[in-house]
Amino acid sequence: MKNREKRQVTRAHTLLHGGDYNPDQWLNRPDVLADDLKLMKLAHTNTYSVGIFAWSALEPEEGVYTFEWLDDIFETIYENGGNIILATPSGARPAWLSQTYPEVLRTNEMRLKQLQGARHNHCFSSPVYREKTQHINKLLADRYGNHPALVMWHVSNEYSGECHCELCQEAFKEWIKDTYHNDLTALNDAWWGPFWSHTFNDWSQIQSPSPIGEEAVHGLNLDWLRFVTDQTIDFYKNEIVPLRELTPSIPITTNFMADTDDLIPYQGLDYGKFAEHIDVITWDGYPAWHNDRESTADLAMKVGFIDDLYRSLKQQPFLLLESTPSAVNWHTVNKAKRPHMHLLSSMQMIAHGSDSIMYFQWRKSRGSSEKFHGAVVDHDNSSENRVFKDVAEVGQTLEKLSDVAGTTRPADVGILYDWENNWALKDAQGYGLETKRYTQTVQEHYRTFWEKDIPVDVIMKEQDFSSYKLLVVPMLYLLSLDTISRLKEFVANGGTLVSTYITGIVTEHDLTYLGGWPQDLQDIFGMNPLETDTLYPSDRNKVRYSGKEYELKEYASILEVNQAKIEGEYLEDFYANTPAITSHSFEKGKTYYIGGRLEQAFHEEFYGDIIKELGLSPIFPVKHEKGVSVQARQSETEDIIFVMNFTEEEQVVIFDKPVWDKLNDEELVGEVTVEKYGIKVVAVPLTN
Ligand code: GLA
Ligand code: ZN
Repeated sequence: MKNREKRQVTRAHTLLHGGDYNPDQWLNRPDVLADDLKLMKLAHTNTYSVGIFAWSALEPEEGVYTFEWLDDIFETIYENGGNIILATPSGARPAWLSQTYPEVLRTNEMRLKQLQGARHNHCFSSPVYREKTQHINKLLADRYGNHPALVMWHVSNEYSGECHCELCQEAFKEWIKDTYHNDLTALNDAWWGPFWSHTFNDWSQIQSPSPIGEEAVHGLNLDWLRFVTDQTIDFYKNEIVPLRELTPSIPITTNFMADTDDLIPYQGLDYGKFAEHIDVITWDGYPAWHNDRESTADLAMKVGFIDDLYRSLKQQPFLLLESTPSAVNWHTVNKAKRPHMHLLSSMQMIAHGSDSIMYFQWRKSRGSSEKFHGAVVDHDNSSENRVFKDVAEVGQTLEKLSDVAGTTRPADVGILYDWENNWALKDAQGYGLETKRYTQTVQEHYRTFWEKDIPVDVIMKEQDFSSYKLLVVPMLYLLSLDTISRLKEFVANGGTLVSTYITGIVTEHDLTYLGGWPQDLQDIFGMNPLETDTLYPSDRNKVRYSGKEYELKEYASILEVNQAKIEGEYLEDFYANTPAITSHSFEKGKTYYIGGRLEQAFHEEFYGDIIKELGLSPIFPVKHEKGVSVQARQSETEDIIFVMNFTEEEQVVIFDKPVWDKLNDEELVGEVTVEKYGIKVVAVPLTN
């Protein structure tokens, strides 16, 4: 066959549009598969994730392979001009596999062996499962590795969960031995062994945390979560051996998630660590648009936060690998996206750095638990319904924006987010058990920059801080001496650092610092937090800052100020008139400490002052009301500005300088109307 050149889509000039394609659910319906090809053209889609749960269709009996249907899919998709993201099938196993090798089944934290069924539930230590997955992955790589339609590997699906079986207990013990260099005393020290007589005198006594066993040793809980991350990564690394070997130029991803109640990053794995092992960050985003708990703009801010975090994990564009064009089936209430919301929510992803809009799934299933989950093609098989037309509109829009692919944007502000910190702080038996809300607190700090259109990277503690002018580090309870010294270096070299109450309390082993706040922190902040007062949810205090009063709730730190400048004071309670906000110049840089949990109006004022002081600005200023978000990506020649109306009213925005409307091919300047849930994507040439 001629011209079967391999397509390179990542970091190239295409935005991907498509989704999970599960033809294995329709193999007895060739008419349906033929319709798919026609509908793909009409939907303006170009990329399909195939084979995610196809193991039983690929190997119906042990050692009996039926790749022919997948061969056909590769050919027809390719002939149709499409790209394939090929999945490895480990996310769900065939029944024969668990029946023959029960060790692949998970054991839960109650030490109960699970039955075959559902998915995402294999033991991540099982040698048999590792061997079986690697084997089928090798067959897939052998067979399709050189196929010109293959553009990426989708390894497994949404790795998650824990296994507490004997194999995992053994692996955990080995991990512990390794981490503590075979030194049981070091382990007992780190886990504060003598407390409740929990000192070990033999490695064999170590067990994973369990509600029917140990849950009170915080060092153990934290190490277990670290182990789960490492063991999952280790399983993934085993999966990709043949892929790296046989297809070294095909990028590898595995899809990340968000925890959905509050739309925060998934908490079961440390994605910061995982990111080091994958080539392209991808995630599955299912925000509950139009819910009754929060405004559309509030939810949009949370989506922006996750996007900025996942983009910053590798400082490169990410892919939205799954989303729904309408509703999902697993929110408590599954509300359809209102007119324009699908385009708006999709453009928000692109604006924050996604190079794709992909869906779960292409065609709605006929049976089982996802038969009512939104899909591109509904049970009516029609290209005329509202959802299909919304998808086609996104496809056409992405085609017009193809030069956005591969671009990112510079950010002067870094906001630090840390999974380990969340694990430890949540576990901490203290403060308010319900009110710590670490991730939500970081989001509230992020909100100010989001509302002011200032680009932000949400970064890990391991990342390099030196490129940022401002680093915001809220509630970093778990803070190692190593990170402290890196923060100190950042400030010494001229950076501005903002931190808050409940920062720098425990080491990486979740052991408290003794003898007061670590000296380096006292040096850079010029003060010492002596005590943290936790308030009842209905309690309030006030802080005066810059001549105005702001409401405080839940947390207030009582500060002993040495050299720092007092920027704000508490107004009530037994610490009335004592310092609440401080600043301190340290070597070439400056620090700020926010002693209590303050209302958003304070953040606006406070960060507004810092933004002015540091000369931070949006990539391209657009005047607008609250609820409109302006985000930018930057190519070598132009800034691409996304103006997105997350309010329920029409909005007027103002472009002070002429800009080029990339979707309507016209110049815009001055007042421009953006309809409810509307968008504008405009280009501004780079001047130098
Ligand atoms: C996840 C899974 C998909 C599908 C969707 C439904 O993201 O990866 O297989 O179940 O949820 O929203
Ligand atoms: Zn196990």
